[in-house]
Amino acid sequence: MSFFKPFALERFFAKHEFSAKYLLCSSDCESIPVRELLAMEEGSTDRLLELRLGYTETRGAPSLRTAIAAHYAGLSPEGVFVHSGAEEAILNLCMALLEKGDRVVVNAPCYQSLSEIPRSLGCELVPWHFRETAGQGGKPRWFLDPDELPGLAGSGGTKLIILNAPHNPTGALPTRDEFEAIVAHARRAGAVLFVDEVYRRLERDQEARLPSVCEAYENGVALDVLSKHSGLAGLRIGWLASKRADILDAVAVIKDYNSICASAPSELIAEIAVRNLEAIAARNRGIVARNLALLEGFFERRSGFARWTPPVAGSVAFPHLSDGSDSETLAERLVAETGVLLLPGKYYDYDSSYFRIGFGRKNMPEALSRLEEWLGQ
Ligand SMILES: Cc1ncc(COP(=O)(O)O)c(C=O)c1O
Repeated sequence: MSFFKPFALERFFAKHEFSAKYLLCSSDCESIPVRELLAMEEGSTDRLLELRLGYTETRGAPSLRTAIAAHYAGLSPEGVFVHSGAEEAILNLCMALLEKGDRVVVNAPCYQSLSEIPRSLGCELVPWHFRETAGQGGKPRWFLDPDELPGLAGSGGTKLIILNAPHNPTGALPTRDEFEAIVAHARRAGAVLFVDEVYRRLERDQEARLPSVCEAYENGVALDVLSKHSGLAGLRIGWLASKRADILDAVAVIKDYNSICASAPSELIAEIAVRNLEAIAARNRGIVARNLALLEGFFERRSGFARWTPPVAGSVAFPHLSDGSDSETLAERLVAETGVLLLPGKYYDYDSSYFRIGFGRKNMPEALSRLEEWLGQ
């Protein structure tokens, strides 16, 4: 028997991602060619061509860690630990921190590794459920109630609280007050708060951007990656950021048993991207904003087909089929007949009438048109 259950979402993507013409459910934003990245800084093409392809430092090249640390208030480069994608960082952190029997609170639904890795390590998983609510002034929102946290985490005994904000797949984001309440509850429970921040910088309203948990909480560990806001998933460069040196030291022990270090060319290119992060993310926010305007029109016109709670941040949303039918049946028919791919909610262990839609790609308008044509009058 395998240690992990198969990663349902990754298996679904493996089946369709490289054959479907229109990925209307991707979570990563539009990518950039290497040439364009190298053009952002003088001399970088020569640096890449002259790079020697030896091992790199386990925690990441010092210059890359310095560039990353500059994005966090009060964090030194020692507080940054580079990984091969966010995925490796989640695995390493959980293996470093968790033991059989530990209680772990995790938001639900969630990106599967955030719950499956603690589960497979023998932890007691306590789900913290999102609810779709009317919200303030009747404006619907996906809501994760901070005040449920004390009941879920108890007082002492919870090792880790896992929050993904902005959230995949709902596009939810706590308000600043809610985030502060979450931090206060984590502090009271004596728990480490791990925030998967891979969709940060993609807030619809820039004022809504939360501080990173590594800035807001002394026992906070933040996760980020260049895959989503920067569209650079192929680099496989992500990182943990935290002021807890002991946690990062424990992660180093685990890292020696998997990737050992990141890829040297990826680190070099990532450094350019990190120094230009705000510009790259701003470009992707532009694509997202344009696509969201189209989606708003679509959901208004097509309420008989599907309804959504508009996302607050990120590059995905989680609508549901209005007739409550199974979104997998729809997704399989749709991709076979039009090449448009949607992601059924069942891959989040959620009500199967829900599905994920993604809007970070330039060809989203075309994908949406194909879907609308297929739906007919
Ligand atoms: C919430 C969340 N965390 C982590 C990851 C993993 O990111 P990466 O594929 O860059 O390792 C993803 C990817 O979809 C994600 O949505």
